[in-house]
Amino acid sequence: MDERGIAAGWDLAPVLAAGGLDVDCLDEIARSLAPGLLDQALRWIGYALETEQLMTDIEDAGNRISSLVAAARQYSQLDRASYQWIDVHDGLNSTLVMLTHKIGDGIRVVKDFDRTLPRIPAHPGELNQVWTNLIDNAVHAMNGSGTLTLHTGRDADRVLVEIGDTGPGIPPELRRRVFEPFFTTKPVGEGTGLGLDIAYRVVVNRHGGDISVVPNPGDTRFQVRLPLSEPASH
Ligand SMILES: Nc1ncnc2c1ncn2[C@@H]1O[C@H](COP(=O)(O)OP(=O)(O)O)[C@@H](O)[C@H]1O
Ligand SMILES: [Mg+2]
Repeated sequence: MDERGIAAGWDLAPVLAAGGLDVDCLDEIARSLAPGLLDQALRWIGYALETEQLMTDIEDAGNRISSLVAAARQYSQLDRASYQWIDVHDGLNSTLVMLTHKIGDGIRVVKDFDRTLPRIPAHPGELNQVWTNLIDNAVHAMNGSGTLTLHTGRDADRVLVEIGDTGPGIPPELRRRVFEPFFTTKPVGEGTGLGLDIAYRVVVNRHGGDISVVPNPGDTRFQVRLPLSEPASH
């Protein structure tokens, strides 16, 4: 472009290159134009390419925003009935979206979902709190790198949701204590010790399910089992 006397070619070159215009292409354009028009023509092509790229960016951003909003609505359950028949995967997926930033890039997320699971009667907003607390603990245990596995499946007359991590596990002397209120091994200000207590109360007291832990180092799993049918007392 310098050879042909185009002003500020350095400014235009990246846009043209990104749009797939190479030197041969520019030669062809130069040949088909009256001398003196090349500068203006290239600038015009540059604007058109830039606008097109911006439109694509805006569309992508718009799609991302609307899927985030959908996840936030699903997560918060704001305008939904507090007790209903739910697909557990909806809550797990929206919780993952809400925690994307916290999970970070060093942690691989594996979804091992049984999509044939039936709906279950539940308080979905409260279950989202359970998934949040379990995923938060798993991510914390892995300290920035590892694999977070969300597994779902059928276990007799219950739905099993398992949150697994590749962290250090839980030493035998602490296993009985992790579900106690205010029990935490995290520094003051970081942990409240309430995450698993809340999870226990939501799962066991509110849903008639159970929660347990398989605390192996490198393969720690928190397992939640939820009944497929309504408890008689509900
Ligand atoms: N996935 C996990 N891996 C290892 N330890 C865990 C895991 N989840 C929970 N714990 C242990 O259980 C304790 C209690 O967890 P929780 O009730 O959520 O409180 P907090 O996260 O505020 O400490 C944690 O401090 C930690 O010692
Ligand atoms: Mg916690």
